Amino acid sequence: MSDPSPSQSPLMLGILVSGRGTNLHAIIEAIERGQLTAQIAVVLSDKKEAQAIARAKEHKVPAVFIDPNAYPSREAYDDALLEALKSHCAEFVILAGFMRLLTPHSVAAYRGRMINIHPSLLPAFPGLRAHGQALSYGVKVSGCTIHFVDERMDHGPIIAQASVPVLQGDTEVALANRILIEEHRLLVEVIQCYSEGRLAIDGRVVRIDRQT
Ligand code: GRF
Repeated sequence: MSDPSPSQSPLMLGILVSGRGTNLHAIIEAIERGQLTAQIAVVLSDKKEAQAIARAKEHKVPAVFIDPNAYPSREAYDDALLEALKSHCAEFVILAGFMRLLTPHSVAAYRGRMINIHPSLLPAFPGLRAHGQALSYGVKVSGCTIHFVDERMDHGPIIAQASVPVLQGDTEVALANRILIEEHRLLVEVIQCYSEGRLAIDGRVVRIDRQT
């Protein structure tokens, strides 16, 4: 079972980013609208120029660049991430376009409390260029997946998925934009479910207690 937030206080989020940060922005806006009972404890980026950092700062959300080149190994870098998450009291971690594979130690530290969003219907098209993979394969439906993070890339227990049609003549950008709308909606929904203790993991299967 997951470890749902026991109190009424907002769920403290740690958000790991590498790029443009539209998913981060969707979370920020949902919190500001009162749609999400959560607070962003910290945004951590492995890229100094990530647009996500600027978006966070615009909304007075703490954002920190942690430079991978300043650490001698992946383990040492991940320890720095863990330390930053801990010092900001992050209870639940979201990989929102974070482009590094985490080490087993850091995955274990947040097992059942760390999710990733990926722009395909996993297990199809894991890894980089998911939209291009989907177009090359010729699938007629694609979408996005939110899953708990385990040691393998884009692999852990699936929490939720949303599908979109692949249209004739689609480019990677067109498909990505269609999927992104669903990513933003689904991510907010899943975080709110977690914050209300409505997610339970049973092996690979995640149950969502849907409210009536
Ligand atoms: C999204 O498509 C997400 O699914 C993938 O990386 C992209 C991040 O986009 N993991 P953004 O930085 O949130 O705009």
